[in-house]
Amino acid sequence: MTLYSAAALIIAAPALSAAETTSGANDEAHALIQQYASSLQAELVSAIKAGGPTNAIAVCQEKAPAIEASLSESSDWQIGRTSLKTRNASNKPDAWEKRALEQFEARKAAGQPVKGMSYAEVVETDGQKAYRYMMAIPTQEVCLACHGSDLDPELASTIDAAYPEDQARGYSAGDIRGAFTLTKPL
Ligand code: HEC
Repeated sequence: MTLYSAAALIIAAPALSAAETTSGANDEAHALIQQYASSLQAELVSAIKAGGPTNAIAVCQEKAPAIEASLSESSDWQIGRTSLKTRNASNKPDAWEKRALEQFEARKAAGQPVKGMSYAEVVETDGQKAYRYMMAIPTQEVCLACHGSDLDPELASTIDAAYPEDQARGYSAGDIRGAFTLTKPL
């Protein structure tokens, strides 16, 4: 009994420290996502209040990349947003991100809540290891003006003009709109 416990401890020790490293990285990723989401949401809500959703399109267009750039500059992480159906083609997922987004859809279909759904993995590309982390973004009521099925015609034509390849429509509240995607070189 005693021998067995000692052996279990030895085996458990390295696994525990690996888990700590992972949860530390996940905490960093969460903090950045929170900053990103709250800054963007604040900009979005005040732009909609000031001039309606059409006015707020410019906010999404200009502020989202600006917030991404400033958070990426002030941390060890690259941060962005992606989706299986993008509005801005430069947000298209790479192969790893696409698999994670498909996994989120499968988990949602199996009954898991979208809020807080995440996936992390250490990935090696061309000999460079990186910690990659994604968190699903639920579609809320406020998103539907620009990502729903019933877009105001003036708003739709403003979006069409800015994003001729737009696919990010037809969502309902509760759908997975996309995900935050973060990468930290190790
Ligand atoms: C005022 C219109 C508007 C509203 C409201 C809006 N979005 Fe968007 N959304 C946009 C635009 C425009 C882009 C493209 C931004 C860019 O060029 O990077 C975008 C891009 C995105 C992306 C990046 C992936 C992609 O499709 O290119 C995500 C994720 C996203 N929106 C989620 C949301 C969520 C979640 C909400 C609600 C909380 C929301 N949006 C509300 C207009 C809007």
